[in-house]
Amino acid sequence: MKRAVYPGSFDPVTKGHLDIIERAADLVDELIVGVLNNNEKTPLFSVEERVNMLKDVTSHIPNVRVEAFSGLSVDFCKKCGASFLVRGLRAVTDFEYELQMAQTNRSLERGVDTLFFTTALNYAYISSTVVKEVASYDGDISGFVPPQIAERVYARIGHTKQREVKGV
Ligand code: PNS
Repeated sequence: MKRAVYPGSFDPVTKGHLDIIERAADLVDELIVGVLNNNEKTPLFSVEERVNMLKDVTSHIPNVRVEAFSGLSVDFCKKCGASFLVRGLRAVTDFEYELQMAQTNRSLERGVDTLFFTTALNYAYISSTVVKEVASYDGDISGFVPPQIAERVYARIGHTKQREVKGV
């Protein structure tokens, strides 16, 4: 059984994340999306909300499981019996941090290798941070996140003027 873990903050999940989840799930028997419960950051959505949103947008992919975790990603991989860790590379600016993380993880746990997916070009500029920033100014985020996520972001950010959320 080939298992991989895709760890991240997913605050909130974007179309870029979803694209990577779909492609990674094609490669392995089971993909576990690990949502980091990070006490140091103040996320827009609680870890339970982020898990539920991910479950919602991945419900069409049968071999994807979504779980919260805390601590090291490699320890979560070991707990899940996963030998691969999935990460996306959007641009060269991601590279240095991702390389350092992959090398650290490999030195911590030899049994876990990082698989990098290059983000689809049309999603390369999207990040959860950008989504929150645009939504906070009442901008249109329908191109960046699935419709049900856009609704939840607008509701959380508290805009009265809710945009009509377009289809995917
Ligand atoms: O979506 P993000 O915020 O870019 O994801 C970063 C994440 C969660 C993958 C990374 O911060 C992480 O793995 N955190 C858990 C702690 C850990 O394992 N650190 C060692 C890697 S240097």
